[in-house]
Amino acid sequence: MLKGKKIILGVSGGIAAYKACELVSRLKKLNAEVHVIMTASAAKFVTPLTFQSLSLNQVVVDMFEAPNYWEIEHISLAKLADVIVVAPATANIIGKLANGIADDMLSTTIMATRAKVIIAPAMNTNMYENPVLQRNIRLLSELGYTIVPPDEGRLACGDVGKGRMPDPSVIEKSIIDLLNFRQDMKGRTVLVTAGPTREAIDPVRFISNNSTGKMGYAIAGQAALRGAKVYLVSGPTILDAPAGVEKYNVISAEEMYNKVMELFPMCDIVIKAAAVADYAPMTSYSQKVKKLDSELELKLKRNPDILYELGKIKGNRILVGFAMETENLVENAAEKVKKKNLDFIAANDLNEEGAGFAVDTNAVKLIDREGNVESIPLKTKHEVADIILDRIMNIKRT
Ligand code: CTP
Repeated sequence: MLKGKKIILGVSGGIAAYKACELVSRLKKLNAEVHVIMTASAAKFVTPLTFQSLSLNQVVVDMFEAPNYWEIEHISLAKLADVIVVAPATANIIGKLANGIADDMLSTTIMATRAKVIIAPAMNTNMYENPVLQRNIRLLSELGYTIVPPDEGRLACGDVGKGRMPDPSVIEKSIIDLLNFRQDMKGRTVLVTAGPTREAIDPVRFISNNSTGKMGYAIAGQAALRGAKVYLVSGPTILDAPAGVEKYNVISAEEMYNKVMELFPMCDIVIKAAAVADYAPMTSYSQKVKKLDSELELKLKRNPDILYELGKIKGNRILVGFAMETENLVENAAEKVKKKNLDFIAANDLNEEGAGFAVDTNAVKLIDREGNVESIPLKTKHEVADIILDRIMNIKRT
């Protein structure tokens, strides 16, 4: 299944390093070409000779050993890789990758690669739950790294909790998924909108909402991973553009409308995850509004409903919307599918824990034109993004 695929396995220094041996032998059985890079501390847990015997390739530990390849070694491995897998990934290597530190063979190779990277964290529960580590994992995930979360159970140190490296078969599956099944969107052009819009009251104040853009960015990133050409039109967020995505920054609903209309003719799939402000101040003052002793009345005007306008001119394109509701989720969302001429809508119940704004997870209901409802239980936003893209790819066009 992995014939001709070149996999670099990075092993960092945790007790789970012994499980990486099984991963190598599994990958070899699938005919992959495996090259192992070990950190110096990994070599204290398992000898390089073990990995060399299993992979049938030289194992690299020290950056300054005489190279076996004609190019500079970390660059040649970085270029060679179809995928790089770090398993087990310690807090240390995760911290380095998330912060751009490249001081050994493994971190420099990952820094120099354009290949997809899979990280399988494995460590003591307290280390795993440390907010600094969690932030680093989140950052890597937002940058397009695939994270295989650890299992729960009894750890080598005797503690019970999250942090055990998953079974090698689980990591193997994520490698196969990433290598074999993610190019299904090649040839498709996707327009994604994300984040909030800001409607200026004066030069320092605005009306906006709580959208962070995470869901839209996850969709854009996954679509790019799956081979699509992706335009991301984003309102103000603190997120970095996912790898391989062409990003346009906008501020107001009107700016978003203009950019979307400009890109729309080039696209065959449009996913509107942005939380567009429905109203903007009637007048946007050019000078800061001074406070008065009396009440201040702010008059608002309607913004264009971008999705509604796209629905009118959609032609053969696939159009997907999002809906945030606090009551009558299915009825309200189904109404929006009809009104805006959508193929389907992903509806969020804001009352549900773990769903909606700011969090890294989401639970949505997908409602199509026929009123069919598919409930997607709580998953990471990247997983939800993939399911939405799967449903889009299943829509048959005549
Ligand atoms: N949308 C849009 N332009 C707007 C408002 C919404 O393109 N001015 C899009 C959103 O990006 C989303 C969908 O329409 O994909 C539904 O957004 P939502 O705010 O839930 O619905 P509204 O149509 O604004 O209805 P309401 O706020 O009354 O629930």
